Amino acid sequence: MIKVHNLKKYYGRGENLVKALDGIELTIARGEFAAIVGASGSGKTTLLNMIGGLDVPTEGKVCVDGVNLENLREKQLAVFRRKKIGFIFQNYNLVPTLTVEENIMFPLDLDGSAPDGNFLKEIVSLLGLEDRMQTYPNVLSGGQQQRVAIARALISKPPIILADEPTGNLDSRNGQNVAGLLKMTAQLYHRTLVMITHNQELAQLADRVLHMEDGRIVRE
Ligand SMILES: Nc1ncnc2c1ncn2[C@@H]1O[C@H](COP(=O)(O)OP(=O)(O)O)[C@@H](O)[C@H]1O
Ligand SMILES: [Mg+2]
Repeated sequence: MIKVHNLKKYYGRGENLVKALDGIELTIARGEFAAIVGASGSGKTTLLNMIGGLDVPTEGKVCVDGVNLENLREKQLAVFRRKKIGFIFQNYNLVPTLTVEENIMFPLDLDGSAPDGNFLKEIVSLLGLEDRMQTYPNVLSGGQQQRVAIARALISKPPIILADEPTGNLDSRNGQNVAGLLKMTAQLYHRTLVMITHNQELAQLADRVLHMEDGRIVRE
């Protein structure tokens, strides 16, 4: 499902050279839930962004759901992201001027895909957002906003969900809740889930825990 080979990402040059990724080998199977842990600056976000086609490697290969990302131009990468990846970020990234329902449907609007009303109802109910559909993000708690972001990541049925510290702005109770919902929905719909977290307890929810240090996966 996800295959990464000899992946390197360097920033800067000379004295300022930063090896954000320094030779990553990684295979994640369809339906697997992998957590990525490691100190700040160890390359977690860079790795996730390479898998999600948000950034381009210095060297190495990334293959996602049968697609070799090196073969794609910027426009094709945008299509790849819309079809294959649901992104969830630490700061939710909701559009403040859109209602909760409009935020959830946003990826479908971008893609020109027909909304699946039953699927929308189902995920909204699973995530406990039924009463919030016509409100705006700014009146919601952090936990509620992240549940909206989960619904938005699922709505276009991408095979892969990438979450970058999705509980980083939440207290531990809401963090547990959001991570639990993320795992539950990914499992229910057989999505491959890769989640970065600083929280050891939440990492234990995953099938695998990848430990990063200085741009490498040092142990599993
Ligand atoms: N756009 C960039 N330009 C220069 N350096 C960057 C850039 N993005 C990340 N880095 C550097 O790459 C390293 C890994 O960063 P990052 O992947 O964000 O780590 P993490 O998510 O584990 O905190 C860090 O040293 C960071 O400063
Ligand atoms: Mg990061």
